[in-house]
Amino acid sequence: MNKIIIAIDGYSSCGKSTMAKELANALGYIYVDTGAMYRCVTLYAIENGMFSGKSLDSDALEQRIDEIKISFCRDELSGKVLAVLNGRNVEKEIRSMSVSERVSNVAKQPYVRQRLVEQQQAMGRKKGIVMDGRDIGTTVFPDAELKIFVTASPEVRAQRRYLELLEKEGRADYEEILSNVKERDYIDSHRSVSPLKMANDAILLDNSNMSLDQQREWLIDKAKEVISLS
Ligand code: DC
Repeated sequence: MNKIIIAIDGYSSCGKSTMAKELANALGYIYVDTGAMYRCVTLYAIENGMFSGKSLDSDALEQRIDEIKISFCRDELSGKVLAVLNGRNVEKEIRSMSVSERVSNVAKQPYVRQRLVEQQQAMGRKKGIVMDGRDIGTTVFPDAELKIFVTASPEVRAQRRYLELLEKEGRADYEEILSNVKERDYIDSHRSVSPLKMANDAILLDNSNMSLDQQREWLIDKAKEVISLS
């Protein structure tokens, strides 16, 4: 059967990665979380003193961009995909509030996007891939056979992120998360390079009122339909 490229784009914290991961598993495809790649670059910048508060020393990051090596590995026990930055498992660190608050500033740098987009395109060369992000259907794979654009209200997304952080870190602040979700929406959709926007040929999925099961079923049916036609 022909393999295709599936692009899943949309706003932050609307469950894109869960959907994309489950879909990739169901189809036996590779899953790539491109947000994790922007988060890895951000963690590198934080750990190397390139941030003063939320302000990034962009020249310093550009000079050392070649030192940043990002890959993914699968955890033997849980089966989860983990982000690896320069040989170190950073899956936990890249999900912290400190990274979330700074990542939009890193993701808007043209040299960062150029590097990461090249790596993402190389990962999809053999197809059979589900990639989630913000610009996959518009910039990384404009010819992807199936493009989904996911959205949900900021409040629903903040509540989901709140529950996730509470479980992981034992504490979370809903108002802080809501304002971070809104701030990231704004920066992501207003930056000059590859702003977050729905591709003309993408299918819109608003999952504010959908259960995970409904969403999973809808998506797998859609993907199988497109694969059978390609
Ligand atoms: O999906 P996420 O919340 O983990 O993404 C983290 C940040 O990275 C988010 O603010 C937008 C940015 N991003 C991007 O600009 N382009 C992508 N393809 C993926 C993420």
